[in-house]
Amino acid sequence: MAAKISTNDYLTAIKYRRSVYPLSDKVDVSDDRIVEIIKEVALTSPSSYNTQPGRFTVLLGAPHKKLWDMISEIATPIITQHAGEEMGKAMEGRFQIVLFWEDNTVVKKSGETHQASAHMFPQWSEHADAMAQIQIWTALELEGLGANLQHMSAIPPVEEAIRKEWNISADWSLKANMNFGAPTGDHPARPDKIPVDQTVTVFKS
Ligand SMILES: Cc1cc2nc3c(=O)[nH]c(=O)nc-3n(C[C@H](O)[C@H](O)[C@H](O)COP(=O)(O)O)c2cc1C
Repeated sequence: MAAKISTNDYLTAIKYRRSVYPLSDKVDVSDDRIVEIIKEVALTSPSSYNTQPGRFTVLLGAPHKKLWDMISEIATPIITQHAGEEMGKAMEGRFQIVLFWEDNTVVKKSGETHQASAHMFPQWSEHADAMAQIQIWTALELEGLGANLQHMSAIPPVEEAIRKEWNISADWSLKANMNFGAPTGDHPARPDKIPVDQTVTVFKS
């Protein structure tokens, strides 16, 4: 039986996770350990009816450099045009990446198998993907890395280029990408939040 983890340990872990942007590729966590973390999440993260539509592509070393070259070439001019030069430069980082995909064949088949809920599977697939994202994000940061979540899927030519370079199925759609590397600045503070009494409502006797 797995070791009992205290709730407070878990809360400490999720409180620690932040969007960390200043990153370098001087990572002292081994590739094997990074892959182990991502596989562990892939094996344990929930999905509706356990249908498992999530797919994960991890690019480390030369492949991640190749990706960033592609992004610089395709996306940086677009981002610079829409969001300014600073954001464009921020995209030129050289860290590592995990790409989160949804296998649309699984979503479609799930709807055929569970017809009464067929209209829900696209949404549930996104929920499941987000659950895996947060778990990988938190685990990588507990390992001493920094990570941030981005959406290269917002720039369709990038998704197409990735698909071509790494022979990704046309049935998969890119949901998000998580950049990670060695943090080069202080660990960020939690950003301002709406008072929790406005977001959490409790009814009790
Ligand atoms: C669904 C979702 C989409 C996000 N997309 C982006 C994004 O495209 N680029 C980015 O820099 N951060 C993105 N973020 C990160 C949020 O901006 C960040 O989580 C939020 O400001 C709170 O900061 P924290 O991550 O440090 O808690 C996204 C977060 C979520 C949950």
